[in-house]
Amino acid sequence: MLEPVVMKKGVRIVELGAGQGVFTRELLSRLPADGRLIVFELNHAFAQHLRKILTDSRVTIIEDDALHLNEHLKKIQMPAVDYVISGLPIGNFKYPLRHGILLEIKTALNETGRYVQFQYFLASLRHIKRLFDTRIVGYEIRNMPPAFIYVCKKYGSSNV
Ligand SMILES: C[S@@+](CC[C@H](N)C(=O)[O-])C[C@H]1O[C@@H](n2cnc3c(N)ncnc32)[C@H](O)[C@@H]1O
Repeated sequence: MLEPVVMKKGVRIVELGAGQGVFTRELLSRLPADGRLIVFELNHAFAQHLRKILTDSRVTIIEDDALHLNEHLKKIQMPAVDYVISGLPIGNFKYPLRHGILLEIKTALNETGRYVQFQYFLASLRHIKRLFDTRIVGYEIRNMPPAFIYVCKKYGSSNV
């Protein structure tokens, strides 16, 4: 899942739907000292848990809907980000919510930014492909149930 993430100096990463923080902890262990990680989690109990386990000045935990992504980035004066990593069950979302979140992700990314989505099935692929230049980079059978990993970039952006 995190293989496409290049931990360059000052990297800015957003994680959507961090749940119990499995990806979050792995991201943090790789994040450079001057990197930033902004974590969105809608569920109050999970957000509380994340606050307890992630006491690191590089991390900001936001307990809110990913639909409000850019409103929060603006509030904390975070410029466009390099990566959005999503464990959101986006294929289960109704069209308007999914579309809204995908547009938020597109706005949040800088021109060379990447959106990495973890998915149990291909239901939302067509929708994502309409908005992003998308590659399925993996099918992770070590995950139970097995999951697809999409890496997406803005159409026309470079291959950095
Ligand atoms: C499949 S879990 C992610 C698992 C996570 N990677 C982990 O390590 O535990 C999806 C998470 O997305 C959160 N979520 C669902 N809809 C959301 C939304 N609209 N905005 C933010 N978080 C959301 C859920 O509360 C849940 O914790």
